[in-house]
Amino acid sequence: MVRRTVDLRSDTVTKPTEAMRAAMARAEVDDDVLGSDPTAYHLESEMAKITGKEAALFVPSGTMGNLISVLVHCDVRGSEVIIGDTSHIHVLENGGISTIGGVHPKTVKNNPDGTMDIDKIEAAIRSPDGELFFPTTRLICLENTHANSGGRCLSAEYTDMVGKIAKKHGLKLHIDGARIFNASVALKVPVHRLLQAADSALLCLSKGLGAPVGSVIVGSKAFIAKAKRLRKTLGGGMRQVGVLCAAAYVALQENIRKLEDDHRKAKIFADGLKQIKELSIDATSVETNMIFFSIVDSSLMSPKRLCQVLEERGVLAMPASSTSVRLVLHYQISENDVYYALTCIKQVVQQIVTNGTAE
Ligand SMILES: Cc1ncc(COP(=O)(O)O)c(C=O)c1O
Repeated sequence: MVRRTVDLRSDTVTKPTEAMRAAMARAEVDDDVLGSDPTAYHLESEMAKITGKEAALFVPSGTMGNLISVLVHCDVRGSEVIIGDTSHIHVLENGGISTIGGVHPKTVKNNPDGTMDIDKIEAAIRSPDGELFFPTTRLICLENTHANSGGRCLSAEYTDMVGKIAKKHGLKLHIDGARIFNASVALKVPVHRLLQAADSALLCLSKGLGAPVGSVIVGSKAFIAKAKRLRKTLGGGMRQVGVLCAAAYVALQENIRKLEDDHRKAKIFADGLKQIKELSIDATSVETNMIFFSIVDSSLMSPKRLCQVLEERGVLAMPASSTSVRLVLHYQISENDVYYALTCIKQVVQQIVTNGTAE
């Protein structure tokens, strides 16, 4: 039986296109640790321009980019960072800011839209009066789009408000913008405007934009100079890295314009899931390329079981919690794939409801 695969686990699963592979093959390269790879320089210059920051640095992953950024801002022992309780840095990066950086996280509750309440952020800032006991707040981190909230976008106005508080208290603001291009397209606001209040940001090229590898951090020249040393410390100095930057540059040139269509397909998907009464989804919360849905009666089927049975039909998805499933769209998923996956989900749910099992 010929079976198709619809891989909805993440937007990190895209395969490099022929254009990316061709660009990698012909990339002009040199030793980037020595600062002389022209293709890395080209990509970094372009990223600095897009983000409105002085300088940029290519790093192997979003995780390393966030870690470096936090460590540059929190270079004094006993530093504390204010961070969302469901943020990627806090939940999904192995606690690297603490285990490697010695930075203490002070979590603030993330709202369903990915924001943290402004008054709660301000209340989380440590008073200098307690410095004998407290860590010292040095940084606030935001995430845009906010992955664990379903890819919700933070507005420029909200980010500005957080930036204002940071400034008022002498703190820095870092934005985990792994999917900032999705936010920019969904909000119709340029990336540089969304990052205006930030002292630094991480942007991923290997998510919705489809590059095989790579992220970039941006900030002031002084920030990037420190970041470069830390990248080397962490083993992220890569020699002829232009091979990777060439593919990332193609992703940047060709794929930003495809994100709008990913968001459209995500809405079709969400609307389709809404019709399945055994599932629960807030379709209005689908703003970009992510869809989270819950199983109304998870005693009937667990998200893990649902994903296993879907995998047998070639539809790959990931449980997000003990009651919910996450689906992520990217440009290598067609509208037809969306309808196919929806049909599979409907059939599986129906079988389980009717027979008590999907077999
Ligand atoms: C919001 C967010 N930030 C950071 C990262 C880390 O990126 P990487 O997987 O490249 O380390 C991810 C990964 O999915 C993410 O979703």
